[in-house]
Amino acid sequence: MTTPSKKLSSARLTQPTNAFVEEFTASVQFDQRLYQQDINGSIAHATMLSSVGILSEAERDQIIDGLNTIRGEIDNDQFEWSIAQEDVHMNIEARLISLIGEVGKKLHTGRSRNDQVATDIRLYLRDMASPISEQLTRLQTALLNVAEREADTILPGFTHLQTAQPVTFGHHMMAWYEMLCRDAERLEDCLKRINTLPLGAAALAGTTFAIDREQTAELLGFERICQNSLDAVSDRDFAIEFNSFASLLMMHLSRFSEELIIWSSAQFDFVDLGDAFCTGSSIMPQKKNPDVPELIRGKTSRVYGNLFNLFTLMKNQPLAYNKDNQEDKEPLFDTIDTLLGSLRVYADMMNAITVKPDNMRQAALRGYATATDLADYLVRKGVAFRDAHEVVGLSVAYGIKHQKDLSELSLAELQSFSDHITDDVFDVLTLEGSVAARDHLGGTAPNQVRKAIKKARQTLS
Ligand code: ARG
Repeated sequence: MTTPSKKLSSARLTQPTNAFVEEFTASVQFDQRLYQQDINGSIAHATMLSSVGILSEAERDQIIDGLNTIRGEIDNDQFEWSIAQEDVHMNIEARLISLIGEVGKKLHTGRSRNDQVATDIRLYLRDMASPISEQLTRLQTALLNVAEREADTILPGFTHLQTAQPVTFGHHMMAWYEMLCRDAERLEDCLKRINTLPLGAAALAGTTFAIDREQTAELLGFERICQNSLDAVSDRDFAIEFNSFASLLMMHLSRFSEELIIWSSAQFDFVDLGDAFCTGSSIMPQKKNPDVPELIRGKTSRVYGNLFNLFTLMKNQPLAYNKDNQEDKEPLFDTIDTLLGSLRVYADMMNAITVKPDNMRQAALRGYATATDLADYLVRKGVAFRDAHEVVGLSVAYGIKHQKDLSELSLAELQSFSDHITDDVFDVLTLEGSVAARDHLGGTAPNQVRKAIKKARQTLS
């Protein structure tokens, strides 16, 4: 980075800034990523200024041409960013003045960097919402495809990580799908508040010029306008909301990752993540490590950290703008990068996953997963649930002792625990019978899974 001699904002100061302070207080190293939004905001501002007679049309056109030239320079890596000009806003303005001369100095009329930066971040978040939502939809589609393929596949469902009742793998995938639907809703909801225009608030109190904020909002595609200038330049609650959405989404991915890690272990061996999503060990030749889900579980903590960073950044700030707010960008950018990367790799990984139905089935058989079905069966035969619970408890203890699943006990053996049992009991003791019987909205029956997938495909497209 170069250091041009003349600063845009230093006439009042008689001594030059300490060289390290200059570097310490600068943000251009990281906020240059806002250049597109900064230029778009400035073009809208200049257009509005000319329409209310503050700039002539010729001045407006010169400014817009200059800004577009600068956009091209930055796009093509031909722009010289300068630490002395502190941030993305002053770098672009200084370059505009050097490109088009005196008229460039008029752009900042009726505006401050305080409302400018708040506008830029909102525009940036709005722009990033599209790729995020695209990747989220890709992942949801991948889940639907796996769910469809494995609608009939049975695995043990767990509570306390102990075998509880059989469920279908499709149903299990659809649980994650539902969580991601709520994440998508949360993104959409917080966008309403992000998409509100701060420009016009100027430094903090508004401006003495007769500006037209409705026009600026319309030009930039903002749905609403911040109603109070002090609030407009100072609060970053919209950024915190965005990071909250991101944290919840990462929390879901992290939990899901935990399952994939467990399922891909030799002890469970329910799934194969695909070699492209695992790595070997430098010392143990037999290893195939689930690095991708592990890393996503790890990256979740970064996003939580960023959320707390932003919360803590805001909590002591008096109105209105304080330089503290310059610290909002790095956590936010990091959250966006982490989220985009995690969603992308997750969708790819789910597209490559293969499941091992035989191993899942064996695990479900080992765990007396149909015990509740036997209890429900007895209730239907007139036994009170508590008594049925006891009968089944005794049957399971007998099965454990003789190393047999409930479905492997003979009718005579079963009848020794209750004379309400007849030979139709075997319909409910099989894994297939168990899942098929839960055939209501939200239940695990393959039939219901297929219905849920169909409904999901309609809403997703
Ligand atoms: N770089 C600053 C930021 O990121 C821009 C606003 C600076 N405003 C000021 N009054 N110093 O927040």
